[in-house]
Order: sequence, then structure tokens, then C-alpha cells
Amino acid sequence: MKLSEIVPWGRSLAEYQLMFSLTDADLSQNILGCGDGPASFNAEMTDRGYTVTSIDPVYQFSAAEIRQRVQDTYEPIISQVKQNVDRYIWKNFANVDELGQARLASMEKFLVDFAQAGAQQRYLNESLPSLVLADQQFDLCLCSHLLFLYAEQLSLEFHLASIRELLRVAAEVRIFPLLQLNCEPCPYLEPVIQEFSGAGYQVQVLPVEYEFQRGGDRMLKISLFK
Ligand SMILES: C[S@@+](CC[C@H](N)C(=O)[O-])C[C@H]1O[C@@H](n2cnc3c(N)ncnc32)[C@H](O)[C@@H]1O
Repeated sequence: MKLSEIVPWGRSLAEYQLMFSLTDADLSQNILGCGDGPASFNAEMTDRGYTVTSIDPVYQFSAAEIRQRVQDTYEPIISQVKQNVDRYIWKNFANVDELGQARLASMEKFLVDFAQAGAQQRYLNESLPSLVLADQQFDLCLCSHLLFLYAEQLSLEFHLASIRELLRVAAEVRIFPLLQLNCEPCPYLEPVIQEFSGAGYQVQVLPVEYEFQRGGDRMLKISLFK
């Protein structure tokens, strides 16, 4: 799959739990969702009484504008997946149409919540690599389908600066997937591991239960040694 820009495409809480191996203890932490876009993670977590703040530049737009953007990008993404079905594992979704319906359902949950979240400050218009957030404001940062995936659009320098910034605002950062859009391993993974191991962090590549891009079943976890 090749997309000229970074698209709004939303996943569910169940998918986040699998992508990041989230335990009950993890869910109870103060969580930052980086690049959450139209995922229903924040909406579903809030429903269950958990605490999540999502950041994404797309939150500068209204719910109606985001809905329009989602509708505009839906067909191009679905048709690219259809052209490359063998690059994906069809265990959670039986086929492309089921995938499309699941994505639209997550995005709809997000749009309803986003429209009513108002003054709660759960959806912030913030962009990597520089965030207007306090040092160590969060216990855990989850970054799904942004870093590593968009290696063609985002440089290694951008990745290093962004992860440094996420570690400034959160005690632990988890990133998934470690593949690019074309399902090839991201060449930035090794330099990122070297950089943050060298800076004294505990850096782990861990297997996870989630696999949709073929071979995309590992996350990167970076934290200070406890
Ligand atoms: C493919 S979507 C992933 C959405 C969600 N994390 C998920 O997995 O369902 C990528 C998101 O990254 C956001 N994004 C793009 N550039 C960003 C930046 N510099 N900082 C934070 N988010 C960014 C986009 O607006 C988009 O919503």
C-alpha cells in the first residue's frame, strides 16, 4: 500500500489492547494516545472509566470536517487493500468489506465522542515532534500506525526527535507496528533502538497477539530502567 499522505483511519479499543499487549494495570494508567486520529480508543476507554488524552493535528478540524475526510479516504484505502490482500492476515477480519465496516464503526464512535467531548480536553490538536505538554505528564504513551509505518513521509530525524519528545511527556512509550505501509520492515527501527539504548533507556521489541500486516506482530517498548 502506498499513500501520498498520512490518512485518518481508526482502530478500536480491542485492537489497541492486542497491538500493545495492554493489561488491566496498563489500562488503569494515565495514557497518552499519540496520533489517535479517528480511532475509538479514547471513546471506548472513557466509557469504561479510564483516562486517555489523545493528540493529533486532525483535531483542529470539526467532527463534520473529519467525517468528510474519512469518507474521502475510505475508497482509496479499501481498494489498495483489495489489490494487496495477500499482504494481510485475515484472522480478525474475514475479508476487506468486514475490515471496512469495522473501521467505519470505530470512526463513527470516535466522531460522536469527539463532537461531545468539548471542554474535557481529551482530544488535543498537537503534532509531533514538539508537544505543548508537561514533562512526565503521562504514565504510558501508545503510538499506533504513525511512527515507522510512514517512514517514506517521516525522516529518521523526525522519528528520533518525536520519540525523545514522547519520552519527555510519558514514562513509557509503546509503538506499533514496526513495518512500513508496504509491509516491509522499517529501516529506522535499528537506529532508534541504538539511540535510546545508548541514552540509558530499556528498549524492547516484543511479540504481540495482533497481526494484520503480514509479519507485523511486534511492538517497540521504551522506558526508563525501574
Ligand atoms: C493511520 S492514522 C492512525 C490512527 C490511530 N492511531 C489508529 O491506529 O487507528 C495516523 C494518524 O496520525 C496523525 N498524524 C499525522 N502527523 C502527525 C504528527 N506529526 N503528530 C501526531 N499525529 C500525527 C494523522 O492525523 C492520523 O490521524
